Amino acid sequence: MTISARVFAAMYDRMMASSEEAGLRDIRRRALAGARGRTLEIGAGTGLNLELYPEAVTEMVLTEPEEPMSRRLRAKVGDRASVVDAPADDLPFEDDAFDTVVSTLVLCTVPDLQAALAEIARVLAPGGQLLFVEHVRSEDAGLARWQDRLRPLWGVVGHGCRPNRDTAADLRSAGFTVQLEHGKLPKAAPIIQPMITGVALPPG
Ligand SMILES: C[S@@+](CC[C@H](N)C(=O)[O-])C[C@H]1O[C@@H](n2cnc3c(N)ncnc32)[C@H](O)[C@@H]1O
Repeated sequence: MTISARVFAAMYDRMMASSEEAGLRDIRRRALAGARGRTLEIGAGTGLNLELYPEAVTEMVLTEPEEPMSRRLRAKVGDRASVVDAPADDLPFEDDAFDTVVSTLVLCTVPDLQAALAEIARVLAPGGQLLFVEHVRSEDAGLARWQDRLRPLWGVVGHGCRPNRDTAADLRSAGFTVQLEHGKLPKAAPIIQPMITGVALPPG
């Protein structure tokens, strides 16, 4: 376990607090409103989505690969969900196991995004859906250039976060059908703007 992973986990809720209060919590709640059935959340962090799931969710499984995060997650969830230590690109679940997969602020960090998207598609049952809230590469060429330049430094601050990832394009190239809205991550630095929220339907 690295010091950076420990520090990131210890600081995470405090780092997010002003964004959450300024509207991110409501954005999360709206994004999760369509969750239903057996639901998998990848990279669940400290569990900021836990209270926001609707009643249509019948069972919740949370994955988190970083031990300092998963320890906090386990302490928070109690018996409301099971917590599994696993990265999104190697999910220890059967094919078609979930009706909903949720990713909030995770696809920027996953090292091998195409492998993770293939895993998400594999574990989604027919008719299943990926619900997401992600910050993505700017459409403004000047800001995108800064996101490229600052990526190595931001990767240290954000523990592996890539501010310049065009996640919607990556979802589409993995065969997902994407319905999304553009927005702003409340009270967050320009380097992690804009934000997209929506639903992605897996290929096939
Ligand atoms: C910015 S935090 C977001 C946490 C939480 N999803 C939220 O919305 O607050 C990014 C999370 O992705 C996790 N993560 C890092 N690498 C990952 C991987 N390969 N697969 C899944 N999650 C990963 C991190 O440990 C961290 O918990």
